Amino acid sequence: MSFVITTPLYYVNDKPHLGSIYTTLICDSIARYKRLTGADVIFITGVDEHGLKIQRTAKNKGVEPQFHCDEISDIFKQNWKDWDITHNKFVRTSSQKHEYIVKEFYNRVKKSDDIYMGVQKGWYCVGCEEFKDNPDNSPTHKCPIHQKTLEWKNEENLFFKLSKYQSQIEELIKEPTFIQPKERRNEIINFVSKGLKDFSISRTNVSWGISVPDIDNHTFYVWFDALLGYVSAISLDMNQPSLDESIDNGWPADIHLIGKDILRFHAVYWPAMLISADMKVPKKVYGHGFLTREGQKMGKSLGNVLDPDILLSKYGKEAVRWYLLKDITLGQDGDFQNKRFVDIINNDLANTIGNLLNRTSSMSRKWFNNRVPSNEMLSKDNTLELYAKKTVENYFRHFNSYELDLAANVILSLAINTNLYLNEKQPWTLIKDEKNIPFVSNIIYNVLESTRIVGLLLLPILPNLSSKIDQQLGLLYNEKESWENQLDWGKLIHESILPAPNPVIEKLEYE
Ligand code: MSP
Repeated sequence: MSFVITTPLYYVNDKPHLGSIYTTLICDSIARYKRLTGADVIFITGVDEHGLKIQRTAKNKGVEPQFHCDEISDIFKQNWKDWDITHNKFVRTSSQKHEYIVKEFYNRVKKSDDIYMGVQKGWYCVGCEEFKDNPDNSPTHKCPIHQKTLEWKNEENLFFKLSKYQSQIEELIKEPTFIQPKERRNEIINFVSKGLKDFSISRTNVSWGISVPDIDNHTFYVWFDALLGYVSAISLDMNQPSLDESIDNGWPADIHLIGKDILRFHAVYWPAMLISADMKVPKKVYGHGFLTREGQKMGKSLGNVLDPDILLSKYGKEAVRWYLLKDITLGQDGDFQNKRFVDIINNDLANTIGNLLNRTSSMSRKWFNNRVPSNEMLSKDNTLELYAKKTVENYFRHFNSYELDLAANVILSLAINTNLYLNEKQPWTLIKDEKNIPFVSNIIYNVLESTRIVGLLLLPILPNLSSKIDQQLGLLYNEKESWENQLDWGKLIHESILPAPNPVIEKLEYE
């Protein structure tokens, strides 16, 4: 079973920002989860390199656009290594392979009689690379996203007949699973109901782009070009890629995970382009929310941009992952608050999960000869077993519907409940009387087993912590046995050796 997931292709005007890290971490976690459940995952990320924004960035730096793109692309690739991202495709829209695909696609759309020459007039945001509404036609009107003044454009462009696909798009977006979350779907339904307008797909004043095959001085509009990166990423042939080859290799995407600001492109323009080229539309477009910092929108002009490199070096990738995936509901806006961040990491990971592991392992080592208790002396108390089974069920349900925060929270609840169980049973009091050994064996085994399941469930979310928990339990993740089977209760081997405990996660300090 193949599963194709994509991040947006990020503009190379600068190194990755927290928003791009956020989307990529979510995709990475989903990709890891899908792989663990046996899917053949194609995880696509990459960079969007053409257009006016990049052309100007390079010019301001005094370098050639290609040179600039090479430099920033390498930074993206390095970032994904530093954050342990497990993508298997990194697409560059300035590559030859991609250019091939764009031209082939254009020819298909042209054959469908969906291209014509027209005049494009309007207010343009170079930051978004998109025409915007400017209700008063004011020359000082700013784009609400980039806070940059819009530019007036009036030029001859090629147009794509989006209006022709009105009813097909209406049908598509009616489908409840196509656009998620629900609120975003309603926004798009509302937008489409006002009537789709044809949009321009070429430019005459942008030299940094793919040239339109049959028309002098026209390059493709950066969005027409970039969306096709999802398709060119899948083709393997570097010299003569083709749309058919991409189709054979896995198109359509199962999910495009993107920020809410670029939903129209993905849920309306892109499917119409694909239908025109006689290709399948993506199965789902998921629009996540925006991150703010301490309640404020982040922006260069506000001087409050949170640098992900600093977060990474100060706190480590897993702390940031946990905060972004567990504390923010996918689809809603989220806020990065330093105090909350430190509290969450210390409470959830260090105090709840880390301490649970360390204190139980220490008790077991002390009372059972450095080992997991033997099963000869077990009594029968299946409270934790039942709780763990329920947890696993809920976890799968949440992950399958992309409720990553809920999936993370059920793991945490299992750890919290395991701690409570331990406190309630008080094995340290029971052990004082020898006749209680069967009960203590049972309690300790249950707690260690529950902790093993906590560790396994963490695998797609916090892969490093997960493997540290395994090591601490004297286990090595068994790649031969399916992850799902390993989640069955009772797999922790009685009398196996428990290594001396080490803290699996460091506590963080407030700034
Ligand atoms: N190049 C286009 C995408 C083309 S896809 C074929 C683009 N690139 S981007 O680099 O500007 O944006 C990438 C992603 O970052 C978008 O999904 C956008 O929503 C997201 N974010 C930008 N700022 C953000 C936050 N403050 N918070 C969360 N994500 C945000 O758009």
